[in-house]
Amino acid sequence: MSNQEVLLYEIDDLFFHYSLGKQRVQALDGLSLKIPKSSLITISGPSGSGKSTLLNILGLIEPVQKGKVLFQNENIGLINEKRKNEIRKFQIGFIFQHFHLIPVLTAEENVSYFLSQHFLSKKEIQEKTEESLEAVGLWSHRKKRPSQLSGGQMQRVAIARAIAKSPSVIIGDEPTASLDQKTGHEIMELLAGLKCSVILTTHDTMVQSFAAQNYHIQDGSVVPIKQGRG
Ligand SMILES: Nc1ncnc2c1ncn2[C@@H]1O[C@H](COP(=O)(O)OP(=O)(O)OP(=O)(O)O)[C@@H](O)[C@H]1O
Ligand SMILES: [Mg+2]
Repeated sequence: MSNQEVLLYEIDDLFFHYSLGKQRVQALDGLSLKIPKSSLITISGPSGSGKSTLLNILGLIEPVQKGKVLFQNENIGLINEKRKNEIRKFQIGFIFQHFHLIPVLTAEENVSYFLSQHFLSKKEIQEKTEESLEAVGLWSHRKKRPSQLSGGQMQRVAIARAIAKSPSVIIGDEPTASLDQKTGHEIMELLAGLKCSVILTTHDTMVQSFAAQNYHIQDGSVVPIKQGRG
């Protein structure tokens, strides 16, 4: 098997529904998808088509109700909460449309605070914080709080926080949606240059243009829409 074929996720016949009182909303309807390691992939589709639901399952935030999801060959439908927490904490980096930084902490503290839960020495935390803020070009802004940063800079801090733990994958639900086109493009250049896999939902063709593969959700399942940069 070549490196390209090593799978990050293997999703097989996945169903997911929300219960609203007696009503049942079917969000995913027999979705199958193989996501290779070390690539940037995007998921697009109309509003309500299940993109965020899928990301939440891949991020182990929502459970696998029916079907099979393997994350690096581990069946995440069969593992206990403790193991799920471990995977979320050490292997998955999350970024969000509205950044989700802690307002009272500086850029530096927003990164180091999360690393403090990772059984690292003080020195290692300092080194990883510096390294990741450098990587996103924000070391010189490290003493600023989120309110003193632009939207693009806040997303860079969030990316620094995500990459600091050296995750296998970064998952982002429309992470450029609240940024202007130029800033969003800069953020995509940064994400496309990362060593880890990146999975994003988007409505934006600019974001899709960075992807090795775009998938489109339709009628509860996913179809590839474009072979991109590979
Ligand atoms: N917490 C919830 N409770 C009930 N129904 C929900 C919930 N979250 C999502 N849904 C429904 O599940 C379906 C899929 O929603 P989802 O948020 O995954 O779509 P999406 O593709 O991310 O949409 P958007 O592009 O608007 O973000 C929709 O019909 C939505 O209304
Ligand atoms: Mg969504």
